[in-house]
Parts: sequence; C-alpha cells; structure tokens
Amino acid sequence: MIFDGQTENEIRKRAFAYLKKGRKEDMKHTLRAVKYGKILWIYEGGNLDTICISLYFHDTGRYKLKDPKSIRPKDLTLHMEYGAKNVRKELEEIKYNGKKTEKIERIVSIHDWPDKVIEWGDIDAILTMESDRLDRYGKGAIPRFKECGKSPEYILNHVESGLDKWFITNTGKKIAKDLFEEMKEILEEKMF
Ligand SMILES: [Fe+2]
Repeated sequence: MIFDGQTENEIRKRAFAYLKKGRKEDMKHTLRAVKYGKILWIYEGGNLDTICISLYFHDTGRYKLKDPKSIRPKDLTLHMEYGAKNVRKELEEIKYNGKKTEKIERIVSIHDWPDKVIEWGDIDAILTMESDRLDRYGKGAIPRFKECGKSPEYILNHVESGLDKWFITNTGKKIAKDLFEEMKEILEEKMF
C-alpha cells in the first residue's frame, strides 16, 4: 500500500476516533507532530509511512488511562502499550503490510522512552520520538503545558534540559533550538 493522501486520510480518521476521547489538546498536538515528522523525513530520510502512522497513533492510548493527563512512569508505559494495541488493530483491519505494522507497533510502544529509542537506533523510531518531543517547543506547545497546570518557569527549565537529551539528528536539534527561542521570548514576558 502506498502512503498517498487517501491512505493518510484513512489513518487520520482512525487515529482521531481514539484521540477525541483523550486530552483536549491531543488532536492538535498529533497534527503538529505529523507536520514535524514530514519535515524531519525530508532532511533525515527514513520511511514516511512508518513515521506518520506511528505519530498519528502514538497518543491514542491516553484516553484509556484513569487520568489521561498523568505523566507518572507507570501511566506513560500504559499509554504506549494501549497505543501499540490500537495501531496494530487498525492496521490489520486495513490489511497494511505486516512487517511495517510490526515495526510501527514497536515504535509506538517505546516512543516516550528516549533511551530505548536511541539504543534501538532505528531512524523511523528516532524521527517519531523527535517529532513528538518537538511539539514541547514553540508557541503552539504552551497551551498543552497549561492544560497540565505547569508554570512558565517549569516549562522553560523542562524544555531547555531536553535540548541535549531528546534530539539526535541535526535537523531535530536545529528546529528544537529555534522553537525554544520563540517560546522563551513569550514565556519570559509572563514571568516578569
Ligand atoms: Fe505525543
């Protein structure tokens, strides 16, 4: 199956059926993450379908948590396990390539553990993780932190510390740094 517009629409529709039951900002976050995935793919390579499908589904497991906003390690693991099950179910239904389905399932199941993704070293997994993390930066990321009750100080410290930990590719590092500067300007105005 080619990852054309029609396939992407079908994937988006299936992922959104889960996302609309989760956190308020999840659908917008997912669309931004997919946009970053496409940009990273242009500069860094990998498989566009694997990256985009992993991103569309990476947070689809959140709605099943007792508190969909929880970031406790146990809940992070659970949301990845649920998301991996969701993507397998949906891709089997549309008879997507079996090997790709297996890989996408694995990516979704570890996407929030940078150490595991880096240890695996797979470019599709790395670009999925980077795309998701990139959406912690920039103007668009601020409402998501606010939804979780985080202060401007917390947000800046958190994302600044991530610049060296979450990005492997040159493109990922550069976009993160640019978005950090944009965000810093907005948040610092709120701090003083
Ligand atoms: Fe995410």
